[in-house]
Amino acid sequence: MGVLDGKVAIVTGAGRGIGREIALDFARNGASVLVNDLGSEADGTGASGVAEEVAQEIRSAGGEAASNGDSVATVEGGQRILRSALDAFGVADILVNNAGILRDRTLFNMEEGDWDAVIEVHLKGHYCCTRPFARYIRETDRRECRILNFSSVSGLFGNFGQSNYGAAKAGIAGFSRVLALELGKYACTVNTISPGAATRLTIPLREGRGDAVDPGDPLLGPQQIAPVCTWLASPAAQQVNAQVINVMRGTVGIMQQPAVIRSFQADHLWTQDDLGRVMPALLEAKQAHDERARREGEPESLER
Ligand SMILES: NC(=O)c1ccc[n+]([C@@H]2O[C@H](COP(=O)([O-])OP(=O)(O)OC[C@H]3O[C@@H](n4cnc5c(N)ncnc54)[C@H](O)[C@@H]3O)[C@@H](O)[C@H]2O)c1
Repeated sequence: MGVLDGKVAIVTGAGRGIGREIALDFARNGASVLVNDLGSEADGTGASGVAEEVAQEIRSAGGEAASNGDSVATVEGGQRILRSALDAFGVADILVNNAGILRDRTLFNMEEGDWDAVIEVHLKGHYCCTRPFARYIRETDRRECRILNFSSVSGLFGNFGQSNYGAAKAGIAGFSRVLALELGKYACTVNTISPGAATRLTIPLREGRGDAVDPGDPLLGPQQIAPVCTWLASPAAQQVNAQVINVMRGTVGIMQQPAVIRSFQADHLWTQDDLGRVMPALLEAKQAHDERARREGEPESLER
């Protein structure tokens, strides 16, 4: 008995890294998995057959899987990805929008092609794959489906040299909040993962910062993300919706979302003097809030 018995899942970018581990864990937990991957280089160029390799690995271990090599970055690709799952398994319950690339540059050097490629795979890719799935949910009145979207601390906190990627990843968090409202009537949950794992996308960045990286370490590698995704995709997570879940270095946490921390009201148009008084109080409240969140967000031991 697995927690995903009888479920059909689509995992994009599942030929490598985090997506591959999610596909393998979903299958181990009883799901039939459509493994999508274009098989590109880390910058999005090229293509290869990694999706079918992972599907074969699942089938060799006794699971059910099919593969698809379309790009998530086109409307037609997104439609064919859903169609491949329906052709193979008849229905679809879970969509994991995981596919991703990087084209890191400071804005000074960022060419239009670097901007467009990253926005297309990440932000537009979420649109291209989710819209057909959302329409399928509505047309078939399918209940209790799951959508897991992939954001990043790059978009949620900010990271030097990643304005294209950070914009896409912040956009994905906003996309998810809206989608959770729109699909609520079908009891479909939409949650966002902010992962941290040693993969080909992050190992060069970490090595550049002088961090030692061992992708085989289960608390650093992509395999630590998968069980959290499996739980969120399972019936146990029906009440967890519109959340951003941070999973990295063996920790699992819940992230704060935009909220007004402190505010003032005036009975006249704000004067420059008013604002000169109010802004320091607002900044102080923000600083105290951030400090409290930082303290309370420190990982607690599970054994405690
Ligand atoms: N690794 C981390 O620490 C980290 C941190 C924050 C966010 N993320 C996000 O997690 C996701 C997975 O990243 P990863 O680290 O496993 O990277 P990865 O490069 O190991 O895997 C990403 C996969 O996506 C595939 N892909 C790229 N473009 C595609 C397209 N157009 N259509 C279909 N497939 C495509 C690639 O071929 C690759 O196999 C990405 O969305 C990434 O932005 C990762």
